[in-house]
Amino acid sequence: MAQKAEIKIGENSYELPIVEGSEGEQGIDIGKLRGSTGIITLDPGFKNTGSTKSAITFLNGEKGILRYRGYSIEDLAENSTFIEVAYLLIYGELPSVDALNTFKTDIKTHTLVHEDIKKILEGFPSNAHPMGVLSSLVTALTAFYPESLDPNRSGDEVNLSIIRILAKMPTFAAWAYKNEVGHPVNYPDNRLDYCSNFLKMMFALPAEEYEVDPVVANALDKLLILHADHEQNCSTSTVRIVGSSQASLYASISAGINALWGPLHGGANSAVIEMLENIKKDGGDTKKWMSKAKDKDDPFRLMGFGHRVYKNFDPRAKIIKKAADDVLDKLGVQDPVLDIAKGLEQEALSDQYFVDRKLYPNVDFYSGIIYRALGIPVDMFTVMFALGRLPGWIAQWKEMRENNEPIGRPRQIYVGENARPYVSPEDR
Ligand code: SDX
Repeated sequence: MAQKAEIKIGENSYELPIVEGSEGEQGIDIGKLRGSTGIITLDPGFKNTGSTKSAITFLNGEKGILRYRGYSIEDLAENSTFIEVAYLLIYGELPSVDALNTFKTDIKTHTLVHEDIKKILEGFPSNAHPMGVLSSLVTALTAFYPESLDPNRSGDEVNLSIIRILAKMPTFAAWAYKNEVGHPVNYPDNRLDYCSNFLKMMFALPAEEYEVDPVVANALDKLLILHADHEQNCSTSTVRIVGSSQASLYASISAGINALWGPLHGGANSAVIEMLENIKKDGGDTKKWMSKAKDKDDPFRLMGFGHRVYKNFDPRAKIIKKAADDVLDKLGVQDPVLDIAKGLEQEALSDQYFVDRKLYPNVDFYSGIIYRALGIPVDMFTVMFALGRLPGWIAQWKEMRENNEPIGRPRQIYVGENARPYVSPEDR
């Protein structure tokens, strides 16, 4: 028997259905609340509000569980590849050997971008932030593939738009970096796998042989898996709400890139390294910075700590922390900020303020240390997050479209002026 919630408003009481998900999560369905009571709910930041039913990613913040289509993040990070995980997220099942090979071939067929995209790239000054370049180039795809503007085209045509952006995003990301360093861009090398091709486009220099280090390529592949989806986070909710107006996939993804840019979201990975560098410059006094993080009068926050959902630990942070040790060891890189990061984590684990608020390292706390060891500059860290999150954004956009979800349009509680007559300038 389906459970119901009962609310009393004044003398009246109302019953609302309770929906239950496949993992036992429950939600009060308020779809008919305003119609039957004239009253809405209010929940800034949607901390208590579910926006959809989704079959893509399951999180349990109390137990630190993260699964993509039922497969644990630990299993996938250990055994899968980013391209296989992208297929899983977008199409719902792990691919057969043939399906995976076809998927890889399809992607390789579309890695090249129209030469005129370079004219757009050349219009950016070298100090343009790579995230702004990336979101602009993704939006530009709507000009080169006008058929992508209609999300109601056939499944095959929508799938071609999906393949195209999966294939071209690494090219755009690498070109955004080349624009920043003032180097000529590199064209994709389809003999290489997804991550190796990206690294070669990023770091190869004219007239020099560039060999991809498999340690670097494998570390990057694992990082992209760990970032691939995370249910209804800020940028994914942005992709969904933009897509709900029947804006195109590329317009929705570009909006997601811009939402991810913020330092409270995907921009945190860059902010963590800047914070750790500041603490190092300041003599490494982690206790001083922990006090600043707890001081309500101090705007400083411990970047890379805390999470809206994870109130125990972020399983991705545990995997990345171990990978950081492995990768730096294999590459023979000594990074003093890694010790500062571990010191901060150790102190936070026994600090009442952090314990009371259940603040633990999140995915962004250690990832920047690996990116830096791989030779990726700080302002490209969030671009790497976007590269990883792309299949998740695509999967969530596709699910929202296939479920014919209504246009997203939240209500509000108005707290402004009541009705008042116009007053002429002379009388103000
Ligand atoms: C990502 O949602 C996702 O899934 C996101 C993500 C994904 O994969 O898509 O996981 C990726 O965005 C990870 C988060 C990266 N951001 C940061 O590391 C920035 C630092 N963290 C915070 O700003 C904060 O923890 C958030 C934004 C992550 C979560 O914010 P909430 O859920 O709105 O919590 P809050 O800001 O209301 O904080 C609750 C309390 C407050 O103190 P009180 O008012 O109760 O006294 O905890 C404090 C906050 O001041 N707090 C922190 C803190 N984070 C929260 N205090 C110091 N340092 C911090 N980092």
